[in-house]
Amino acid sequence: MDKDRLKGKRALVTGAASGIGRATSLRLAAEGATVFCCDIVAAGVEETVSMIAAQGGKAASGTVDVSKLDSCEAIARASEANRDIDSLVDGVFAERLREGQLDECDLTMRELQALAASFKATLTAVYHPRVPYPEPTPEELANLARIAQA
Ligand SMILES: NC(=O)c1ccc[n+]([C@@H]2O[C@H](COP(=O)([O-])OP(=O)(O)OC[C@H]3O[C@@H](n4cnc5c(N)ncnc54)[C@H](O)[C@@H]3O)[C@@H](O)[C@H]2O)c1
Repeated sequence: MDKDRLKGKRALVTGAASGIGRATSLRLAAEGATVFCCDIVAAGVEETVSMIAAQGGKAASGTVDVSKLDSCEAIARASEANRDIDSLVDGVFAERLREGQLDECDLTMRELQALAASFKATLTAVYHPRVPYPEPTPEELANLARIAQA
């Protein structure tokens, strides 16, 4: 296996809380991809992210019901927003390491990666983007006004 084959690539895996989705997520991360693991089961998908962090990979989790269009749209947007969150968190960790602020703490690099993954998952959940709804057209507004008057 080439651990740098997918370096710099991003993958979004659905059904990532167990079975084939989890195995795929682990393999993609092991080959260097940053994996956005999605599933309807939040606890399971977070466990997958922890497993990836424990093997030294990069991942974030998202909860999605693939049978619902707005859920899929939201998770696709969240994966885009993740780019900023990931680089923000990675940047903060890299800076603290460079400054030597963590030289005397007992945490291993693997534990620091697990911490970073946890921060990313939490921030992604907090800044979960909403799907923008289209503005009503003048015709739709007029229809609404007619209904309200009836
Ligand atoms: N395991 C096999 O050998 C095998 C062989 C052929 C086909 N398949 C098919 O491949 C698929 C995955 O198999 P598996 O063994 O990994 O199953 P699995 O049950 O372990 O994993 C399926 C994952 O999908 C998630 N999920 C279910 N509904 C969802 C939804 N609406 N939105 C988001 N996530 C949802 C589940 O929470 C679960 O984590 C299944 O459809 C299965 O029938 C499996």
